[in-house]
Amino acid sequence: MKVLIATEKPFAAVAVEGIRKEIEAAGYELALLEKYTEKAQLLDAVKDANALIIRSDKVDNEVLDAAKELKIVVRAGAGYDNVDLDAATAHNVCVMNTPGQNSNAVAELVFGLLVFTVRNFFNGKAGTELKGKKLGILAFGNVGRNVARVAAGFGMECYAYDAYCPKEVIEAAGVHAVDSQDVLFETCDVVSLHIPATPETKQSINKALVGKMKKGGIVVNTARKEVINEPELIELMSEREDIKYVTDIMPDAHAEFAEKFAGRYFSTPKKMGAQTAEANINAGIAAAKQIVGYFKEGIERFRVNK
Ligand code: 3PG
Repeated sequence: MKVLIATEKPFAAVAVEGIRKEIEAAGYELALLEKYTEKAQLLDAVKDANALIIRSDKVDNEVLDAAKELKIVVRAGAGYDNVDLDAATAHNVCVMNTPGQNSNAVAELVFGLLVFTVRNFFNGKAGTELKGKKLGILAFGNVGRNVARVAAGFGMECYAYDAYCPKEVIEAAGVHAVDSQDVLFETCDVVSLHIPATPETKQSINKALVGKMKKGGIVVNTARKEVINEPELIELMSEREDIKYVTDIMPDAHAEFAEKFAGRYFSTPKKMGAQTAEANINAGIAAAKQIVGYFKEGIERFRVNK
């Protein structure tokens, strides 16, 4: 049985070693394709793989066609919008994610970005503090919950909106549950995005919504670039010079944002939210265990396709 790790953005070496131990203990072989730059390299590497561990790497119909022996793909992470689920189902390939395993890392980065922002990107000018500010958490999943936990340490007042999470669950975490996205943006000084990229959410963070924020509003995005309506956010930020946008996922219109909004726009050059040794170990080893569990015992707990 051959398990391939295919990661354009590699795991920490210590995580790869942890994965190797799990795979070899099960009697399987581990192959590694890291930092690949061409899709052709992936198409070649998947040819004889029975299982695949990926991160944000794209697995589409072409990859699945090339992977003749493939039975399972595990996205070591939360969001699986990079995998064509219908194509995987059509190829009889099981797709899983590893929810929660990298969520603390992403939540910590939210605060790294926020401190950097409220201190004026460390330009020497007096900034502001997070204490006492209202933080809006858009979607109360694994990352959102960790964001609330860390925010409490900063003395922030947390609000959340999640269409799929019961209000009682949100309130039990010491967070005010609000009835809509609109109310969240209206109420909060900072809104942190933790929604997946789905047909419903794509482009949903638009001018009307962000325009509801009070003076000095900050939007922090450690979710997906696809949820932002970039042309409308550019329009809004051109009209409202008080709004700031900081993101861990470089927008398609990065050059325009950077040129027009110096001092109130920042993007990491490469998505760094889950890029810690701990998150890599947690998500990578969980992926390896899920593959072994699937082959040896038929466990499908984190399956995300039909
Ligand atoms: C996730 O969905 O788990 C995060 O966005 C992390 O993505 P990455 O593994 O590509 O860093």
